Amino acid sequence: MDHFLYRNGVLHAEDVPVAEIAVAVGTPFYVYSTATLLRHFTLFDDALDGMDHLVCYAMKAASNQAILKTLAQAGAGMDVVSGGEYARAKAAGVPGDKIVFSGVGKTAEEIRTALTGGIRQFNVESEPEMEVLNRVAGEVGVVAPITIRVNPDVDAKTHAKISTGKSENKFGIPIARAREVYAMAGAMDHIEVIGIDVHIGSQLTDLTPFELAYQKVAELTVQLREDGHDIRRLDLGGGLGIPYARSNEAPPLPTDYGAMVKRTVGHLGCEVEIEPGRLIAGNAGLMVSEVIYVKSGEGRDFLILDGAMNDLIRPAMYEAHHDIVPVVEPAPGTEQAPYDIVGPVCESGDTFAKQRMMPPLVAGDLVAFRSAGAYGAVMSSEYNTRPLIPEVLVNGDQYAVIRARPTFDEMINRDTIPEWL
Ligand code: LLP
Repeated sequence: MDHFLYRNGVLHAEDVPVAEIAVAVGTPFYVYSTATLLRHFTLFDDALDGMDHLVCYAMKAASNQAILKTLAQAGAGMDVVSGGEYARAKAAGVPGDKIVFSGVGKTAEEIRTALTGGIRQFNVESEPEMEVLNRVAGEVGVVAPITIRVNPDVDAKTHAKISTGKSENKFGIPIARAREVYAMAGAMDHIEVIGIDVHIGSQLTDLTPFELAYQKVAELTVQLREDGHDIRRLDLGGGLGIPYARSNEAPPLPTDYGAMVKRTVGHLGCEVEIEPGRLIAGNAGLMVSEVIYVKSGEGRDFLILDGAMNDLIRPAMYEAHHDIVPVVEPAPGTEQAPYDIVGPVCESGDTFAKQRMMPPLVAGDLVAFRSAGAYGAVMSSEYNTRPLIPEVLVNGDQYAVIRARPTFDEMINRDTIPEWL
């Protein structure tokens, strides 16, 4: 459920008409709903009720300071994957002991920053990373709390580009070698083993792969405890999918997920962490764009929008589906026709949807891409020297620009001219 509904025939973000924001900030733009962000966070938090747990929002999904602050104030921890994300989390007021550092290629510098600024734990992904962590922790004069990310060799049955739990993927340590690598960690002076981490992929629409992975983690917990490790925290990753096509998709609910977590690892007495990104932010954001032209092609019509692949790359990159709806609700019974919905960028990959049924639209009409809150703004670029589009946060009847559109001069002035030119 989200808070983007038609009221009196006009799409609203909570209590604010989307068209009003378009007039104020121009198109295209992203708009997020505070109530939806909080609702999704609370759903997860409540689903793990009864277990010692922390929901660490995977901020790679949407990392605007205002979004982080909204979630942090509700009690969320953060899952970060870079020095930049760590700095963002700290800037939003998240204490170090609520920040988890994930990622397959943490640099010594990133590790040092996190050790100095405070960290809940590192999710270590390889032996060489562990050696660097041990060395840097020694230099800083601290002991680094770690889990080791294990690769359970489970097929997440999601898009290949966002599947991470198969043995051929670059992530984690093969679960078969886990005991050996934990033994190595246990012998290091500046590392303290506290738990196990697993994350098998993103946009999972079935609980079975999670359940298989968590069962393997539960077995490993028992083995590692036998080996003398004090396994007391399990980081179960993120990955629960969302309905992108409202008409035909029903991924599992956070409550089903929570029940499965309790079923698989609840008996171990561990503190549990989860790292949802998409499920918190995905349906809490729209991208709003204006129709520039309606063009008749050979056997097909195109809706040419002012938003493009640089603003929302998911359709081009993952063949992802986003529902695209008119901001003014069509009258009941309005006939629809197929359109290819495209942006102005000079490549055919700049296509949001092919032969999508839409009501009649004309230049100047607004459309909204649903489910664009996660991996939308954060993956945007300035390709074609198109400015990063603004982000707006709504809260009830108020809204605020939380990232402004840069001017052309601001963009150009980021370049510097060498003295020989
Ligand atoms: N934890 C780790 C270690 C991750 O790598 C990820 C996502 C998450 C948590 C959060 O997963 P989520 O709950 O959002 O599924 N750009 C792609 C998604 C990439 C996901 C990468 N890792 C997309 O637009 O679909």
